[in-house]
Amino acid sequence: MNRYHHYVKLLGKLNSPTLILDLEAFDKNIEWVISNSPQKKIRIATKSIRSKDIIKKILTSNSIFQGVMTYDLREAIWLRDEGIKDILMGYPSMDVKSLHEIARNPNEITLMVDLMDHLELLQELCEKYKTTLNLCVDIDLSMDLPKLHFGVYRSSLNTTEKLKLFSNKLKLCPNLKLVGLMGYEAQIAGVTDKKSAAVRFLKKLSIKKLRSFREECVNQLKADGFELKIVNGGGTGSLIDTGKENCVTEITVGSGLYAPVLFDYYKDLELNPALFFSLPIVRKPTENIYTCFGGGYIGSGAIDRKKAPTPFLPLGMNLLTLEGAGEVQTPFTYDGRENLKVGDSVFFRHAKAGEICERFDNIILLKNDGIQGYALTYRGEGKTFV
Ligand SMILES: Cc1ncc(COP(=O)(O)O)c(C=O)c1O
Repeated sequence: MNRYHHYVKLLGKLNSPTLILDLEAFDKNIEWVISNSPQKKIRIATKSIRSKDIIKKILTSNSIFQGVMTYDLREAIWLRDEGIKDILMGYPSMDVKSLHEIARNPNEITLMVDLMDHLELLQELCEKYKTTLNLCVDIDLSMDLPKLHFGVYRSSLNTTEKLKLFSNKLKLCPNLKLVGLMGYEAQIAGVTDKKSAAVRFLKKLSIKKLRSFREECVNQLKADGFELKIVNGGGTGSLIDTGKENCVTEITVGSGLYAPVLFDYYKDLELNPALFFSLPIVRKPTENIYTCFGGGYIGSGAIDRKKAPTPFLPLGMNLLTLEGAGEVQTPFTYDGRENLKVGDSVFFRHAKAGEICERFDNIILLKNDGIQGYALTYRGEGKTFV
């Protein structure tokens, strides 16, 4: 039986757009992550999963998965209330209301910082509540080339001298404790390289530079008396390279477990499409064009055709250049072998990982022998962060 028939048979009639996780593919992705990071812990990037049920499922699947990297303070507090431990905020926050709450009770949460302003605010709050807060410093691992900033604009700490000034300031903040260093090599983890030898060359160059910078930063902080429990790096797209750095203790991974379309375009990643969505065909305007209900779930980042959903199954579907995936209606041309009819479902994959969860309340959990159950998304729990 071909894969399209397999899914249709297992899922039965789906009347409206539905999000589906193929657990067989998902488990294979977990296995791939485990076998490609032999000496490192894996921290889960919650932004790329956006379902508490699934985050817990990953955490209990293997002891290599330890802790989460959250993206919003309200999310971090909520996950802590739900029993999740070792929460590293991946990004600084100026949500003062939630910062008060964390300063009052800093258990299990480590905050990300990279500016003196962050330190001043946090020191003031912790002084007020007489608590000590764990912090992680974010260093900049991007690479500047003539006419190209290879990487992202996040942290300002791009030299050891700037890091030194920052750590000196930290020493003056008695209620703040530096326990970690993070460097996210977005130009390695987030840039596809299968089709471009030039990108692979730039990545190689950048990896060499960032490795020595990260190591220098870690050594400098240690020599300065900071005990770093966490040296965090990478993402799914850099898992193999980041795993080779001795000073790194853990790698953050999220997207690779769902394996959205983006990850089809990395040379060394062997991941299986796990998360996809179905759309019902509701119209047939011409002989070879069908129109679905829903579908315009576009990925974030620089605007690009690749951010639209990609037709998945059956094979032979193509979006129309002039319409793309629409707000309420998505037409596609079809030159495949199925005898598609109005009322049938067809399947698409999202460009990125967790964002699609913002469109659905729950995810069907599918195994080879049928539906195993449902996982609520953050949205399904009434939680919206970014
Ligand atoms: C700080 C940080 N770490 C890691 C990741 C990688 O996560 P993923 O494995 O989902 O690509 C990201 C993604 O943007 C990130 O911002």
